[in-house]
Amino acid sequence: MKSSEIRKSFIEFFQKKDHKFIRSAPVVPIGDPTLLFTNAGMNQFKPIFLDESKPEHVRAVNSQKCIRVSGKHNDLEEVGIDTFHHTFFEMLGNWSFGDYYKKDAIKWAWELLTDVWGLDKNRLWVTVYKEDQEAYELWLSQTDIEEDRVLWFGKKENFWEMGETGPCGPCSEIHYYIGENIANQSSEGVNIDAQYWELWNLVFIQNERLADGSLVQLSQSHVDTGAGLERITSVLQNKTSNYETDLFQPVIKELESKSKIKYVDNPVPFQVIADHIRMLCFSIADGALPSNEGRGYVLRRILRRASRFGRVLKLEEPFLHKLVPSLCELMSEAYPELMEKSTHIKLVIGTEETLFNQTLGRGINHLEKLIDKLDSGSTISGEDAFKLYDTYGFPIDLTQLIARENDIKVDEDGFDSEMSKQKKKARQSGKFKLKDKNINWVTLSSEKDSEFVGYEYLKTSSRVLKYAEIENGFIIVLDKTPFYAESGGQVGDIGSISFDGVDLTVIDVQKQNEMIVHLCKGEVSNWSKATSVKCLVDEDHRNNVKRNHTATHLLHAALKSVLGDQVQQAGSLVHPNYLRFDLTYFEKISKYK
Ligand code: GLY
Repeated sequence: MKSSEIRKSFIEFFQKKDHKFIRSAPVVPIGDPTLLFTNAGMNQFKPIFLDESKPEHVRAVNSQKCIRVSGKHNDLEEVGIDTFHHTFFEMLGNWSFGDYYKKDAIKWAWELLTDVWGLDKNRLWVTVYKEDQEAYELWLSQTDIEEDRVLWFGKKENFWEMGETGPCGPCSEIHYYIGENIANQSSEGVNIDAQYWELWNLVFIQNERLADGSLVQLSQSHVDTGAGLERITSVLQNKTSNYETDLFQPVIKELESKSKIKYVDNPVPFQVIADHIRMLCFSIADGALPSNEGRGYVLRRILRRASRFGRVLKLEEPFLHKLVPSLCELMSEAYPELMEKSTHIKLVIGTEETLFNQTLGRGINHLEKLIDKLDSGSTISGEDAFKLYDTYGFPIDLTQLIARENDIKVDEDGFDSEMSKQKKKARQSGKFKLKDKNINWVTLSSEKDSEFVGYEYLKTSSRVLKYAEIENGFIIVLDKTPFYAESGGQVGDIGSISFDGVDLTVIDVQKQNEMIVHLCKGEVSNWSKATSVKCLVDEDHRNNVKRNHTATHLLHAALKSVLGDQVQQAGSLVHPNYLRFDLTYFEKISKYK
């Protein structure tokens, strides 16, 4: 059976059992700050499990695009080295939202695997959570599995959690022995030996893990299952490696023809590249872009890892982008968004790998020289690892990977400490920032401070609650203030604060937590009258800042309309005389784009 037929037959099997087909959610999650990437089929249903929304249908089936490269479910180290972990994979799943529960989930999973797909029952093993007697009994009463093939496991293996927080519950997993000789199987191998593949996980969602670590009972019990299409395909196509299936072979064949090297002669680089190109294409199709932060940095790391493995295949010129059209063709029947975005994906990957290629060669030379000087088993210092990152764009895991191949370690803590030093330096080179510990405040009144009234008033009568002398003047906190504090790249107001013959010029306004602090120049000999002061905001300054603020929004909209949604605001500075708009875009913007 072809992989596309397997995907289809899974969906149709559950459609016949009244499940509604729901399209895969994007791999870039919408509205869930706890996730960098969609990592399981159930992600899009999280609000239903948590009673935050009502399902349109109580039974659902889908094939979900998933990425697992960070956080709780992270397989990156294994990817390409073994033959069954991936950065990107498809999860086939069926769901019950407060409808059927363990009995049907177990019965149907077994029926599909053994009756419909005809898997050999003498290779299948099942695990249940140590406290889930009900699931154990259901396996024996609802299926014809042999009793000694149902095994008990603890929390690590059989209590599934989405992340640090969120829906969770006991689970029952179905494993398949891929070894050559079935006589060599034993229950001891399950969850230990790499020849026993977890094919399908049936999760019985009944709890929520809260941020404080506690577990609460949900109002209803649900079913959430996940079966890896790549592994099922491998098993049904009689292979012992996912890379030998029709999901990966077209890309591997293309790489063979580009590199003139045979896959069987050196499988790992082929596998890494064939895996990573899928992750890159799917994530870029769903709106992610390589960058230096967060999700974008994950893409950059994956691309650089793939690019480096290209060198092992003697592919020195950018080559990854050339794999995009065939991958998009292969997968677009199930995921049409790939074909729609293929030109964009190719452009993004091509631009990024060209950029990295310019420094990759020099970085590898530098790293090789470092490694040459070290004995096997020793460590690359944090400073050297940081230099590779900072000067040659080597993500730490790429340095680790190459070091590991040479039996060398990397001082990760040292790297982190160099990184914090650099961040600190960058902060210090910025303008004066308030730091409480350096300031000797004189308190005149301990009332609640800093009510901001500057949207309604440009002039107020206020009270000074505390002040302090600094290098070139004073800083003052008022009970209420019309002065807008610097925020989000927009400069603070200027103006004056006067009282009893004293005239202070307000040159800047900053926020420290909820406190609004006015930086003033002038002379004060007696603060006793400062309990009643007149504040006046410079109206021209405020209006000019406002205009430039509006202009940043207009510019942003114009950029989006000319360059498309890929253009991202990376920061801005709004000043009365000018504005600066920082943006990220995957390629150099030409004058006449
Ligand atoms: N939600 C089931 C799984 O990811 O295994």
